[in-house]
Amino acid sequence: MQTRLARNAGFCAGVRRAVRIAEEAAGQGGRWYSLGPLVHNDAVVADLKEKGIIPVNRLDEIQAGEDVGIIIRSHGVPPEIIKQAQERGLGIKDATCPLVKRVHDIVALLRGDGYEIVVFGDAHHPEVQAITGWCGYQARVIAGVDETCKMTKVDKLAVVSQTTKDENDFYAVVAALAPMAGEIRVFNTICRATRKRQQAARELSSEADLILVLGDPKSSNTATLTRECKNTGVKTVQICGASDISADCLQGVSRVGITAGASTPDWIIKEVLDRMTEFEEKSQQELEQEKEQDTTASEESFAKMEAEMADFETPGRGDIIKGTVIQVQDDEVMVDVGGKSEGIIPLREMSLKDAGSARDLINVGDEIEVMVLKWDDDGTILLSKKKVDTQKVLDKLDEDYKEAKVIEGTITGTVKGGLLVDVGMVAFLPASHVEDGYVKNLEQYIGQTLQFKIIEFNRNKRRGSQIVLSRKELVAEEKSRLKKEFWDNIEEGQTRRGRVKRIVDYGAFIDLGGYEGLLHVSEMEHRRVEHPSDILNEGDETDVYILALDREKERVSLSRKKLLKSPWEIAQEKYHEGDIVEGTVVRIAPFGAFVELDPGVDGLVHISQMANYRVEKPEDVVSVNDRINVKIISIDPEDKRIGLSIKQAQDEKESKDVQEYLDSQNNPEAGAE
Ligand code: F3S
Repeated sequence: MQTRLARNAGFCAGVRRAVRIAEEAAGQGGRWYSLGPLVHNDAVVADLKEKGIIPVNRLDEIQAGEDVGIIIRSHGVPPEIIKQAQERGLGIKDATCPLVKRVHDIVALLRGDGYEIVVFGDAHHPEVQAITGWCGYQARVIAGVDETCKMTKVDKLAVVSQTTKDENDFYAVVAALAPMAGEIRVFNTICRATRKRQQAARELSSEADLILVLGDPKSSNTATLTRECKNTGVKTVQICGASDISADCLQGVSRVGITAGASTPDWIIKEVLDRMTEFEEKSQQELEQEKEQDTTASEESFAKMEAEMADFETPGRGDIIKGTVIQVQDDEVMVDVGGKSEGIIPLREMSLKDAGSARDLINVGDEIEVMVLKWDDDGTILLSKKKVDTQKVLDKLDEDYKEAKVIEGTITGTVKGGLLVDVGMVAFLPASHVEDGYVKNLEQYIGQTLQFKIIEFNRNKRRGSQIVLSRKELVAEEKSRLKKEFWDNIEEGQTRRGRVKRIVDYGAFIDLGGYEGLLHVSEMEHRRVEHPSDILNEGDETDVYILALDREKERVSLSRKKLLKSPWEIAQEKYHEGDIVEGTVVRIAPFGAFVELDPGVDGLVHISQMANYRVEKPEDVVSVNDRINVKIISIDPEDKRIGLSIKQAQDEKESKDVQEYLDSQNNPEAGAE
């Protein structure tokens, strides 16, 4: 006879969590009660009772007092129960399964949005009663397709399921309800643990002559499992424990499959497997006596059994195993790690980086690798994803180091002697390796993502791994590449955009992206510049003209003024013959006076144009620095000459004054104004 255990069987994560919460409460002292049996399994309830968790049916059975509280079981309770417990001053430990809580949230939200709620489930089941409580008891509970005919047509309908129901039945109900609603929203709230157990039980049924379903008859999911197995046509017997197995029951059976409901603890499964081993050994001996033949088949069977038992044992500390995320909360993640085990990753063990919530890091259904940290007494496996990620990052960095690869990282802060860099792990970048020269201000690098090479790599579990980086060599390589590219492409007469690197008294050095050129002070503007800092600041960007190249000495002369309009070009656009403008006398010569109209643009008032009378010397009419009005009488762009006249400007002004006087005489009112 062969015995096989279903791939998924026994305590689900929600029940395991509830038992753990109850045991922790019992360990804290005080009096603790569970409202109804904590799980649908008499043996577990009896065990918890011994530890101090007393089941009661109603809150008023509890005598309030100090250190008295209730544990809300995984099925959850309606909101008014929590309120009543608070009013009675009872402590509350909420072990409602997070997946059930999700159903509460869904129905409360949708009821608030005006949806009629249908719960597919057993109206007497505490989980269903709690769900209806969360939508103000405004839900209709439907146990199967037959009951859908009682429904009347509605505008908006939302359908959820008791978490332990059969998925096919659920969708059959949904299909029957769909024509009865203007709009229907369907939430498959059947728990993945339940689905997996049902699927594993069906698979096992196809390979067995007999299926033993382990669980309490009051357990909904045990009942569903039993029905699922029976539906496959295989002989199915629901049992509570090892003592229910009899030789009669195994008569004529050669392959036995064992599955267990979500409220069946590990130790009951173990007892049953032990009992089956006894039967198996017995049948083996009988076989040997009767036939005295080769025992290969039985050995195989026993080996398989051993393998099942080995599977049944949990992975060891430090093992890395694969799993699927089945539930994510802010502070922990629940993972199905295959077999019958489910584990917990606390938030602190989720990621190498700090995160406020596990929901920001992972989603239900994600497949991940985790390391087993410890196996708690209550059967919970404490897992770490962070440790696996750390190992992977270290493996990769080790390989990068050995192969001298270039890696990327982000500078996160400064420490004595250098910078800290996030390369998946924290690494150290000595100040002398930040650039290929001295760096005065290390702070400027914080937040920058740059490339590095690993120059030291020490993997040390106890003291933490040491990773030392450098970008000195990379910076030098990049500079020489840019320099070559620069000299390959640069030509006299080009216009380039550059950044002011340094300012000196005689000019400014401009970084042209790979090489620096000199912009001499005389090439900055068309007018005379006292100091380069009057025009440019370090860090400014400016366009420059490539004036001259000395490839041998690697010198580049730049001009900025070449790219600017000359004062004469501006004057040409601005001034026209006949304009009367103001200017400053800047120089006097025997033949007239030079008048500056704009910086760098002078015109000449010839002595003959200074007054309406004969002028002996220009000094008799004007002095240097006088501000005077002049009329532009000629512009010669070729020779850059402007002819000016004081005389004509004055004549025009006088004529204008006379005309204004005459106008005021003809129109006295205007003049009086
Ligand atoms: Fe929760 Fe699913 Fe178990 S809903 S209590 S994990 S069967």
